Amino acid sequence: MKPATDINIQPHAPVLVMDSGVGGLSIAEHIRKTCPDTPLFYLADNGAFPYGDKDESWLVARVVQLAETLVSQYPIKLLVLGCNTASTVVLPALREALSIPVVGVVPAIKPAAALSQNAHIGLLATPGTVSRSYTNQLISDHAPHCEVTRVGSTEVVRIAEEKLEGKSVDLNRLQQAVAPLFETESLDTVVLGCTHFPLLLDELKEIQPRPILWVDSGAAIARRVAMLLSQKGVNSASPEAQDPTDHNIVFLTREVSPDSALMRSFNRSGFDQLRILSPADA
Ligand code: DGL
Repeated sequence: MKPATDINIQPHAPVLVMDSGVGGLSIAEHIRKTCPDTPLFYLADNGAFPYGDKDESWLVARVVQLAETLVSQYPIKLLVLGCNTASTVVLPALREALSIPVVGVVPAIKPAAALSQNAHIGLLATPGTVSRSYTNQLISDHAPHCEVTRVGSTEVVRIAEEKLEGKSVDLNRLQQAVAPLFETESLDTVVLGCTHFPLLLDELKEIQPRPILWVDSGAAIARRVAMLLSQKGVNSASPEAQDPTDHNIVFLTREVSPDSALMRSFNRSGFDQLRILSPADA
């Protein structure tokens, strides 16, 4: 990370949550509960959705460029990369490029391995995340005693995205996409290793053939954000510094109608202003 000595962080400056689409909302929701006074910005790179099948070097350049653009234009005090696909490859470059703290979201292999009674866990994530060397390392560090069944699916990401675009979830389609998780009786715990997937938790529970523990990173990320904010003391200064017009903005890289079901989903998550970040800006 660049030295932070010359940064003038505004006390009520927002935390930025980034993802390829709506997935990071599952993280934003936890941050709102844990840090209710912290304004949030959200960037959905919907112009490049999905990230799960993108080349690693392309992803690094894209995410760093978008983050640098917003951080240079707004007084953002902390960035949460609310995307496992990006976090498992972009974090070192992002921390090098930015002067603010960066929190990444990576698959919750460690808690899942500790919770599994049968030492058999599933990893449901994007094709990118399941095949990363970062993920291999997480598994050998934290779940060496576990059998790990990996399912990489862009289809499940699309189903989640469509749900928040107002479409009803086809349970057969979801069932087909996650079927390998249900094949072996011993698998009792599944890591939701993509931030889109907690948005489908009700539906996943509906189709599970036996009790399964579904584990995600949302609460842990929110605790980490709260800890970093309290360490820096950025929440303690006077509320007069707050500029309410700059709060709770959702940035998109492809235009959507302000009346769309997608915008209503962002509104429900507390994002009431829409701004388009054009490719020329980023
Ligand atoms: N929500 C993202 C993740 O956690 C990315 C999904 C995608 O764009 O493929 O991996």
